[in-house]
Amino acid sequence: MPLARSLSVTSLSGLEEWDEEFDLEDAVLFEIAWEVANKVGGIYTVIQTKARLTAEEWGENYFLVGPYVESNVRTQVELIEPTNPVLKRTIDKMNSSGCKVYFGRWLIEGSPYVVLIDVAFTAWSLDSWKRELWDLCDIGVPWFDREANDAVLFGFLTAWLLGEVTQSEEPPHIVAHFHEWLAGLGLVLCRHRKLPIATIFTTHATLLGRYLCAGSVDFYNKLADFNVDKEAGDRQIYHRYCLERAAAHCAHVFTTVSQITAIEAEYLLKRAPDIVTPNGLNVKKFSAVHEFQNLHAQSKNRIQEFVRGHFYGHLDFNLDKTLFLFIAGRYEFSNKGADIFLEALARLNYLLRVNHSDVTVIAFFIMPARTNNFNVETLKGQAVRKQLWDTAQTVKERFGKKLYESLLVGQLPDVSKILDKEDFTIMKRAIFATQRQCQPPICTHNMLEDSGDPILNCVRRIGLFNSSADRVKIIFHPEFLSSTSPLLPMDYEEFVRGCHLGVFPSYYEPWGYTPAECTVMGIPSISTNLSGFGCFMEEHIADPSAYGIYILDRRYRGVDESCNQLTSFLFQFCKQSRRQRIIQRNRTERLSELLDWRYLGRYYISARHMALAKAFPDTYMYDLHKPTSTSGFRYPRPASVPPSPALSRHSSPRHSEAEDNDEDERYDEDVEAEKDRVNIRQPYT
Ligand code: UDP
Ligand code: G6P
Ligand code: GLC
Repeated sequence: MPLARSLSVTSLSGLEEWDEEFDLEDAVLFEIAWEVANKVGGIYTVIQTKARLTAEEWGENYFLVGPYVESNVRTQVELIEPTNPVLKRTIDKMNSSGCKVYFGRWLIEGSPYVVLIDVAFTAWSLDSWKRELWDLCDIGVPWFDREANDAVLFGFLTAWLLGEVTQSEEPPHIVAHFHEWLAGLGLVLCRHRKLPIATIFTTHATLLGRYLCAGSVDFYNKLADFNVDKEAGDRQIYHRYCLERAAAHCAHVFTTVSQITAIEAEYLLKRAPDIVTPNGLNVKKFSAVHEFQNLHAQSKNRIQEFVRGHFYGHLDFNLDKTLFLFIAGRYEFSNKGADIFLEALARLNYLLRVNHSDVTVIAFFIMPARTNNFNVETLKGQAVRKQLWDTAQTVKERFGKKLYESLLVGQLPDVSKILDKEDFTIMKRAIFATQRQCQPPICTHNMLEDSGDPILNCVRRIGLFNSSADRVKIIFHPEFLSSTSPLLPMDYEEFVRGCHLGVFPSYYEPWGYTPAECTVMGIPSISTNLSGFGCFMEEHIADPSAYGIYILDRRYRGVDESCNQLTSFLFQFCKQSRRQRIIQRNRTERLSELLDWRYLGRYYISARHMALAKAFPDTYMYDLHKPTSTSGFRYPRPASVPPSPALSRHSSPRHSEAEDNDEDERYDEDVEAEKDRVNIRQPYT
């Protein structure tokens, strides 16, 4: 196999030095996950964003292994012949033995190679593999658990693949990195078959943790007391739990994505991770400092257009004073904190009303649920908006023509005659079309389980029905966003950029990419001290809220208290002037380097080196006592924030309430940025 390069990751400004040379000659990396080229949630984001850095390090010796899903392959993968002779032989052999294994390049940054396995094609083996699993380790997978069946097929197929690779004449040193329980069985089988492979298992949550939190359990206070087998059995996930726990114990190196999940794993999986591997992102830096602010303005305009359509006939609020808030992610109502967000919105609505605020808040819920497509009322809204736009253009053209003709003969037009009867008829007809008997809809789609849907039921209870009197409006979009949508044609990134605040008050969140993504786009966010991201930011930033990183206390407070704190964050945010928001966005964006894989990738690199040294001690050495935790650096409070925490509590940059013009805003941004840049290089004391 071609040589892989060793990589040295240098430090970023103000962050601790790190330099690790490791000779990876003749080593090969396989990274195995169900979310390779297959978007389900945040694990996809981990793998997709990390690929560039990993490909830089491992070059031609990096292979991602995932499931073959035709619709994904058609849009994301270029199928090619395997370039590597060992892999080619392996894939050919498997394909001639009744499997369907594909090879290609994933069309993302870094263009890594992917090996995609069609698990359904090998479903004929399911029963015999399940029996083997039972004989091997007494794990019985019930027939009705489709996901677990997939995990069995995927596990046996990946172990088969890796086993074949080790059969080559001069097998390379293989590192196989498995993500999450769905891929974990492959690791267990590799170890059971004693394959010469260094294995890593990263868990992005624990199954039991996710299930327990979704119920009404005081999870964090009882962590040490759970009878894990019983709890897993009660929830009918015992077999999944066993697969997860087996993978964690069999791995040479076990990692979790945050400190909070490390503790959870120690109690629930009975193994503490060897290293925490926090999630990073690919940070795009624009050459012009203000570029991301311009992008905010552009995307906000597009969201405003959508809102104009959605609220047609009820546009009695000032869009220029409307703030866009959103929550997004997999639809886990209470784990993701949608429950307390809704409750806080009801309280915010009350506060804005009694304080006679002229601010309107539109809260978007982007959480995929089962639907039967867009609803007619929502589509009609966009059609009405378009019709009004077209009418305005028609009248404008007729008006322009008359104006032009009048100027050609050297006369100013008679303003009273410039619009004729027909123009008025066209306009009146268009206005009539905007009449509406119902309130603007809460939900953009026809829900399949409307009466049992937790968001809709909560909205019914708190009574936020998008009425004129409400200062807080709600739009539930139960589908991930897409630039090809006829309703809101924006991809998720564009949408986030156009919003003002991301709200992620999760109760269970091992990491939480959504607030991290907000940060690198310069959009403030609310997360919690029960999320990996929130804890990470709390640890590394002296005054997170000054940077637009609001961290809700869900650990030491009851639900009602947390809800009050959330309401207070939201209300304070609504009181900020435009200028304050601009300054805050600048500060938020400055934190992005902290979340860059260029910095955070080092923990994955360490995990691989550790695994190689454990599996092949004669070839590789690794100092196990070397510090690998993320402790040791801290971002100071921005220079422009007063030192008293009381004054900076709600990250209010010190400026007048006046909504000044853009030129002044730009000036302030520069001054702020410069002050903070100088300050950021000073060590934290
Ligand atoms: N996301 C998306 N489209 C959307 C909403 C969310 O692609 O319309 C992505 C988002 O970018 C993020 C992921 O979904 O990377 C959610 O990851 P997170 O770690 O926050 O939560 P998870 O769903 O994994 O629990
Ligand atoms: C960016 C743009 C400004 C715009 C502002 C709106 O900073 O560069 O031109 O005025 O966004 O901010 P807002 O928080 O009101 O959406
Ligand atoms: C899981 C977690 C989420 C995390 C993601 C990536 O899906 O729920 O918090 O961000 O994995 O690690």
